[in-house]
Amino acid sequence: PRCMPTSTSIHPILDQAPTTESFRKATLRGFRKDQKQIPSKFLYDDRGSKLFDKICELEEYYPTRTEIGIMRENVSAMAEAIGPAARLVEYGSGSSLKTRILLEQMREDLAAYVPVDISKSHLLESAEALAEDYPAVPIQPVCADYTTSFELPEPPRSARRTVGYYPGSTIGNFPRDQARAFLEQIAHTVGPEGGLLIGVDLKKNVDVMTAAYDDAEGVTAAFSKNLLRRMNRELDATFDLDAFEHQVLWNEERGCVESHLRSTTAQSVTVADESFAFDAGETIHTEDSHKYTLDGFASLAADTGFEVESVWTDDRSYFSVQYCTTRSDSA
Ligand code: AVI
Repeated sequence: PRCMPTSTSIHPILDQAPTTESFRKATLRGFRKDQKQIPSKFLYDDRGSKLFDKICELEEYYPTRTEIGIMRENVSAMAEAIGPAARLVEYGSGSSLKTRILLEQMREDLAAYVPVDISKSHLLESAEALAEDYPAVPIQPVCADYTTSFELPEPPRSARRTVGYYPGSTIGNFPRDQARAFLEQIAHTVGPEGGLLIGVDLKKNVDVMTAAYDDAEGVTAAFSKNLLRRMNRELDATFDLDAFEHQVLWNEERGCVESHLRSTTAQSVTVADESFAFDAGETIHTEDSHKYTLDGFASLAADTGFEVESVWTDDRSYFSVQYCTTRSDSA
């Protein structure tokens, strides 16, 4: 992958990419638990990020399409809420597809766009494409695991405020208490009179929610199994990809779709020199996708120093995009 940006509106990448060591530690810690698990952020290596882009185009995966519709329909109100000369920081920018709708509307009204992503090659590729299409917007890419504390580049002097952008309902991939902690971290980053434009997927018919994570083509299964491939490659693991299957279920109590990799036979697998036994039917819990009610999200936000100022939704109320602000007295 190229590491030096070629366009002048892209600043050098601020590289805080996580190490293989952090993947090894997290995997071993997760595998020693009764319910084996891996933090879902490790789904996004280069191949995983590309598979995720394919998921976003699937018939069953309603969130992306619905959110894009909401963005298109309401982008001028969103731009107005964000206000002039803001520095826009996107958490988990990936291909920055939805951001293009905002950039198209705001262009030189933005002081800077700061895409933060865990996958370096994916980040640079999309930063370069954006720089070409929006040369008036300074781009300051940051490669980091945004769930840990990381550094932001110096804001341009022209920036009047910082606004977080967190689309995709990725907030749903955190359990409620971690979602709260993460929003608090964003509130701290954007500071008093800062903002957050966030996508939040809403509770709906259970079949609609689970089908979104279990598509007929098997793209989501490949995305999930990519974790096994990644462990084989990076952690000298010995997973047989055909001996696991993708499984999803709705957990009513926790209000989330759970994704698992289910061992189809009793087997033993080595990961980073440690051996792990799997019973037939035993699973590795790979991801949670929490769904919210509008009230549920408003009260979560209110616990963190944010206040929901505007809510935009689609006509079926499948998904919401919300603008939250920090109070002027918050730190
Ligand atoms: C990124 N995140 C919001 C997706 C979701 O819906 O939980 C990740 C995903 N996993 C499987 N499909 C999509």
